[in-house]
Amino acid sequence: MSDDLSALQAEAEAAIAAAPDPRALDAVRVAFMGKQGRITGLLRSMGQVPPDERKARGAAVNALREAVEGVLAGRQAVLDQAALAARLATERMDVTLPPAPEARGSIHPISRTMEEMAAIFGAMGFTVAEGPEVEADWYNFGALNIPAHHSARSDMDTFYLSGTHEGHPLVLRTHTSSVQIISMLSEPPPLRLIVPGRTYRADHDATHSPMFHQCEGLVVDRHITLAHLKGCLTDFLRAFFGIATLPVRFRASYFPFTEPSMEVDIGWNRRTGELGGGGDWLEILGSGMVHPKVLANCGIDPREWQGFAFGMGVERVTMLKHGISDLRLFYESDIRWLRHYGASPFQPASLHEGV
Ligand code: PHE
Repeated sequence: MSDDLSALQAEAEAAIAAAPDPRALDAVRVAFMGKQGRITGLLRSMGQVPPDERKARGAAVNALREAVEGVLAGRQAVLDQAALAARLATERMDVTLPPAPEARGSIHPISRTMEEMAAIFGAMGFTVAEGPEVEADWYNFGALNIPAHHSARSDMDTFYLSGTHEGHPLVLRTHTSSVQIISMLSEPPPLRLIVPGRTYRADHDATHSPMFHQCEGLVVDRHITLAHLKGCLTDFLRAFFGIATLPVRFRASYFPFTEPSMEVDIGWNRRTGELGGGGDWLEILGSGMVHPKVLANCGIDPREWQGFAFGMGVERVTMLKHGISDLRLFYESDIRWLRHYGASPFQPASLHEGV
């Protein structure tokens, strides 16, 4: 190879070896092998070489081009490898780092109580039923044996709405007992269901909210007696409050839709607020044997079928269970309060909550 080609090759190889990164290497490639490059220029000017030297000169320039290409490719591989190694070093994942904490919500105590009720009654064979919150007054009152003039209507501070349904005025349901009627009309007995849901009364103070929650219960079957009612509610209250020896008392009372009717009390200590003992009684729910007129209103023959029903305030039992003093806290959505009283979404409500 002639001296000028050898010198050019040495120059190209030195520039390639000195290129610190792929960008610089590319600049070297362009300077020697690009369209305006120096080696390309030699090939292009071959016409000026005397014809007898042309063949040898052509072969020599081609050999130079191939040699420089080979060195370029080698350097390219070295630089690529170095870039990869650098990335692997800087982008390495440290699997021993603790994960960033994730914001986690909690189950509202009212929802949690209703889940617990579903778990406990579910184990006794109850299903969960639902009904509308806007209701014809017939389902909320009339069919439940509460006639128009009855004091129970005014006692309940009903919200009336404009409009009617099947000729009946519309109300926001004042209790979940309306779903007793819906369930008996839509399904033949035997029935065993609970109805957790929202209810409305025009009342507002530390222990009353215009919107609150109740859980209704209804059992209709053959040969159902007061003993079933007492056993079922005693078992429920002991499981719900997690006190196996919780004293439970049934006290005669009055509801238009049950006969006989009973208020249910649990034992507590009025002074300390502690549940389970102390010699005092706390009223906790209403109950009774389904009134024969209510069964008949739903097309069920009361001589063949009997049942019992009960209803309790979800906020009230939640406040007692968790020592919450003011009802309004449930609806304020204070994130600190919700974190404290809310339940973990990863712990499903279980049958023996807190036991
Ligand atoms: N509906 C009644 C109330 O709101 C509770 C109740 C339900 C009583 C079922 C007896 C039977 O106070």
